[in-house]
Amino acid sequence: MNSTVKKNFTQKLFLCLAGAALLTSCVNKQADKTYDDAVDIPVNQQMLAELTSPPNVPTPVGKRKAKKLIVDMEILELEGEMTSGVSYVYWTFGGTVPGSFIRARVGDEIEFHLKNHPDNKLPHNIDLHAVNGPGGGAESSLVAPGHEKVFSFKVLNPGLYVYHCATAPVGMHIANGMYGLILIEPEGGMAPVDREYYVMQGDFYTEGNFGDRGLQAFDMQKAVREQADYVVFNGHVGALTGDNALTAKTGETVRLFVGNGGPNLVSSFHLIGEIFDKVHVEGGDLINDNVQTTLIPAGGAAIVEFRVDVPGTYILVDHSIFRAFNKGALGMLKVEGEEDKQIYSGELSDKVYLPEGGVIQSMPGSKEKKEEITASSVEERIKFGKDIYGRTCFACHQADGKGIEDAFPPLANSDYLNADVDRAIDVVLHGLTGEITVNGKTYNSVMTAQNLSDEEVANVLTYVYNSWGNSKKEVTPEMVKAVRNK
Ligand code: CU
Repeated sequence: MNSTVKKNFTQKLFLCLAGAALLTSCVNKQADKTYDDAVDIPVNQQMLAELTSPPNVPTPVGKRKAKKLIVDMEILELEGEMTSGVSYVYWTFGGTVPGSFIRARVGDEIEFHLKNHPDNKLPHNIDLHAVNGPGGGAESSLVAPGHEKVFSFKVLNPGLYVYHCATAPVGMHIANGMYGLILIEPEGGMAPVDREYYVMQGDFYTEGNFGDRGLQAFDMQKAVREQADYVVFNGHVGALTGDNALTAKTGETVRLFVGNGGPNLVSSFHLIGEIFDKVHVEGGDLINDNVQTTLIPAGGAAIVEFRVDVPGTYILVDHSIFRAFNKGALGMLKVEGEEDKQIYSGELSDKVYLPEGGVIQSMPGSKEKKEEITASSVEERIKFGKDIYGRTCFACHQADGKGIEDAFPPLANSDYLNADVDRAIDVVLHGLTGEITVNGKTYNSVMTAQNLSDEEVANVLTYVYNSWGNSKKEVTPEMVKAVRNK
């Protein structure tokens, strides 16, 4: 027997025995039904399930009666962008990673239609952790390209559940993005909140390292060794940053449905600048209050709820922190509204929290050099350079090249930069400490040496020189090599 239902039932029994006055109200409630066992909840109508792409979730179930719910899910294998300049062939439920969000209630009878698009290359299936039955549906749903499989199940347990493909090699299908969430609401629905979002972490394994350009194939050996190149929310780097950030207003309550598809890594899910007022631990009935970081197992989930009090940018991370700043597991929640100086005196900045990029990952002098795609024109050099800038430089110097006042000097219209190209190359190669004057203002910050190849230094500097009113030079790998060898 479902534990919540059992508890309700016992309470009702006690109340019924308590007296005649109470008995009346009990009978009324009974008319509103309570079932000992969710399997007995009748369904009498049919509806098509609303499916949504992340970070959106379908309309709350609320008080609707149990129904026969038709889920129409299409598997698509498609090429997408892992990060700027890097593409990957994702295998998806519904065209997104994570797959479409499914929302149902206890007692629903779900008729699942799994379609494998004719252009796909592989068979797939689905294992829903919300199913009571062999393989969670996987055994009944193996579907070849151009086919559709149908199976049904009775929804017995409330909670937030992962679904994923379970076709061999299982790890590979999950690693390519075949996972998503299904929420089963309890009888009567969940307490209303102002905002709900869908976030799911996943780890990816590519032949190249983080940021290596071009179409990157899945790397089985790295996956077996659990050495992820990318750890991301919602399928790719930047899925929840900048214009894609989640939003809320001060005073609102926010509920995040957070899943972890894995295939390998456990998430230490944390929201920088907030405390989870409530966590439905592992997506189940247990509620923990006032939580800073919650563990989300691979193949597991959690529901976190909090009220945002002051405006600013809050940062979602896996607090296994290199994953956040070097592998992509970083998202943003932008909150607008009135300041409340009593709760927080200062101002939050999103500027220092931008991804640092993969170039920092590889230690100096380590590894043989990978074959590199070289720019064949100035235009291409600028294009490649922009990507490197976005991964490496813009945390300090900013997307518009204007730097941060009193901290990091501007690169836009910079007299320091335009006066001496060899000096600029030297700074990128070897870093810079001590006081410098840029456009009449003094700066005394530290720039770390960038572990970039000659080609990369040439590209990023060419991008900078050809942006924001600078002197439009092209920096070539030969020029960088000459400075490096000095
Ligand atoms: Cu699959």
